[in-house]
Amino acid sequence: MKLAVYPGSFDPLTNGHLDIIQRSLKLFDRVIVAVAHNSAKNALFTMEERKALILECANDPRLEVDAFTGLLVDYARRRGASAVVRGLRAVSDFEYEFQMANMNRKLTHDVEHVFLMTNEENFYISSRLVREVASLGGDVKDLVPAPVLERLRHAFPARA
Ligand code: PNS
Repeated sequence: MKLAVYPGSFDPLTNGHLDIIQRSLKLFDRVIVAVAHNSAKNALFTMEERKALILECANDPRLEVDAFTGLLVDYARRRGASAVVRGLRAVSDFEYEFQMANMNRKLTHDVEHVFLMTNEENFYISSRLVREVASLGGDVKDLVPAPVLERLRHAFPARA
């Protein structure tokens, strides 16, 4: 049974994330979407909101949504995952992902990193840009699933 962890902040879930979740379910028997408690980032949505939105948008019996604190590799090992999945968009993602994967590999050899490419429509989407555009009144309906759009409209009433 091949289990993968797909970690991230998911603040909020975007169509790019959904694409990666669906691709990873084709490769692994089970996938855990692991939402990181990241104290360095000022989150728009609470952990519970982020988890609920992922569950609502990506409901699959082989998918679990969880939260984690501490090191990702410790979490992955504790859960018995053999791989960490990350999405790759443009070249700019590479350096950050390369650093993280190598640091994780320094910490453990028990977990492999698998990088999946989003489809080209999602190449430019990031949670950070979605938050910024929505907060400034821009239209993000093609970038996020409908339940996330709904929550953004709630967060930025006269805008998103
Ligand atoms: O969606 P993000 O914000 O790019 O995800 C980054 C995340 C959560 C995967 C990364 O920050 C992480 O793994 N955090 C857990 C703490 C940890 O293991 N840090 C060392 C990474 S080399």
